[in-house]
Amino acid sequence: MSKEKIDLDRLPQHIAIIMDGNGRWAKEKGRFRIFGHQNGVKAVREVSEGCAELGVKCLTLYAFSTENWNRPRIEVNALMTLLVKTIRNETKTLMKNGIKLDAIGDRSMLPKECVQELDEAIEITKNNKNMTLILALSYSAKWDIVNATKNIAKRAKNGEIAIEDINEELIDNTLTTHNYPHPELMIRTSGELRISNFLLWEMAYSELYFTTVLWPDYRKEHLYEAILDYQSRERRFGKTSDQLSPENK
Ligand code: FPP
Repeated sequence: MSKEKIDLDRLPQHIAIIMDGNGRWAKEKGRFRIFGHQNGVKAVREVSEGCAELGVKCLTLYAFSTENWNRPRIEVNALMTLLVKTIRNETKTLMKNGIKLDAIGDRSMLPKECVQELDEAIEITKNNKNMTLILALSYSAKWDIVNATKNIAKRAKNGEIAIEDINEELIDNTLTTHNYPHPELMIRTSGELRISNFLLWEMAYSELYFTTVLWPDYRKEHLYEAILDYQSRERRFGKTSDQLSPENK
């Protein structure tokens, strides 16, 4: 099995995933789209557990984008209900696996029940140390960048910071992702080759991995394949191959 081939000393610290293909998976089976989302929960469990077992420190899952609010009302409502139910049911598994839960995104758009459930699970799991599972909910990178820009502009206007203080570090620290390292690896399922407004700033140097597997079929073995592929790459960060130290090769 490919898990043994993974070099545990060169794991990505942070993996970000665009979980895509739930709707197509359901359609292939002649079922409603929500059936695909419901079956996507198993993949969420597998990947969270798989990352925690290996020693990956952060996993961000794109669960609902700002743009997803434009989907038919019936699907949006069903997704919100599923999210609330999943968070409630999975808190025990998070505790068992030592996983801390966090969320990024526009909370003001989420139903009250969803925010309550989320806050409760975040509070219960806050001392877990193995891994942090970050749900991107009602999230888009442009939304985050616009808010960070407003925040910085306000502080500059109030005289708290000077224009010269605006640098990459300040922007990093103002985004909702400020508690976490930038993802080294981004995985997207279902064969779509897009970033779709996900972690645009944070993924400046991420390795991108695309697979045709539809999200409800995604299992630990697929995750291992993606990590092995990541480990076969040379991360140059703009340098030449000769400039890299052996451990970066
Ligand atoms: C994309 O597939 C998937 C989503 C918009 C929702 C993902 C949600 C879950 C897997 C439910 C539970 C998740 C958590 C984290 C508790 P799509 O609908 O765009 O599929 P399509 O492209 O085939 O139409």
